[in-house]
Amino acid sequence: MKVLLTGAAGSIGQVVTLGLIDRGHEIVGLDRLPAPDGFEGAWHTADCADPDAVLDAFAAQPLDAVVHLAGHPDEAGLTDSLTSHVVTTAALLDAMLAHQVDRIVYASSNHAVGRTPRRDLVSDDALPRPDTFYGVGKVAAEALLHLYADRYGIDAVACRIGSFLPEPTTVRNLSTWLSHDDGVRMVEAALTATAPGFAVLYGISANTRAWWDLAPGRALGYEPQDDAEHWADRIAGRPEDDAEAAHVGGPFALEQFYRPALDRR
Ligand SMILES: NC(=O)c1ccc[n+]([C@@H]2O[C@H](COP(=O)([O-])OP(=O)(O)OC[C@H]3O[C@@H](n4cnc5c(N)ncnc54)[C@H](O)[C@@H]3O)[C@@H](O)[C@H]2O)c1
Repeated sequence: MKVLLTGAAGSIGQVVTLGLIDRGHEIVGLDRLPAPDGFEGAWHTADCADPDAVLDAFAAQPLDAVVHLAGHPDEAGLTDSLTSHVVTTAALLDAMLAHQVDRIVYASSNHAVGRTPRRDLVSDDALPRPDTFYGVGKVAAEALLHLYADRYGIDAVACRIGSFLPEPTTVRNLSTWLSHDDGVRMVEAALTATAPGFAVLYGISANTRAWWDLAPGRALGYEPQDDAEHWADRIAGRPEDDAEAAHVGGPFALEQFYRPALDRR
């Protein structure tokens, strides 16, 4: 497939770009940053929140699908969060309609349900329960994807990613880890699943201590191969581990992240 991959200069973007190219896909990169050294395909240096710049990128070549990873991967004020996650997604969806591209894979986050108390496995039918304005942005971006799927028949898979890391480094990561290889498997499954409509999957590896249900991902063909448990003996406990295990969003659900919604002068 020929895929427009936004956020291609970022930490997930660089890994997924290489992984999808290895699997025979063609990547057109888009980021506010220039292409990383060694990237050889087409590249658009553009702000995904600018609908004209996004349309220009679509007009430059035909595309089969979009993988939307561009976004600020952390907590911010509400306005910045909505721009980073919702406005960028809107610009892409409108450009997809204009250019008859009907598949988008979105980097949502576990923080869309992060305030859910940690008890039972959380599945794709959990109510939105964000833990931060970042999480609110992800919930709203998912809502927009759902609207375009219902209105226009776009296939949109929201991947609620846990912790994308080379290896787990904290006790929480033993539940939330997404390995690099599984991240590529996840995106490829979401790109190629037959007629998913709007769907949510949890982007974690096959962790023995998983907090989220892998069944929705498996139904779309995502078969994770790695398990954070392999590192369990090497991970030292920390005083904050219990607090981080109270809600599935971990530290983002803690009081240290409370802040006003809007930045003031
Ligand atoms: N890393 C994780 O564990 C994790 C977990 C859950 C969700 N996510 C989501 O995955 C996505 C990628 O995360 P990451 O860890 O690779 O972050 P990152 O900061 O390493 O990469 C993001 C990239 O997007 C680009 N970008 C940001 N806003 C942009 C815009 N408006 N227009 C164009 N480019 C823009 C940045 O320049 C950067 O290269 C984010 O949406 C993040 O919220 C990440």
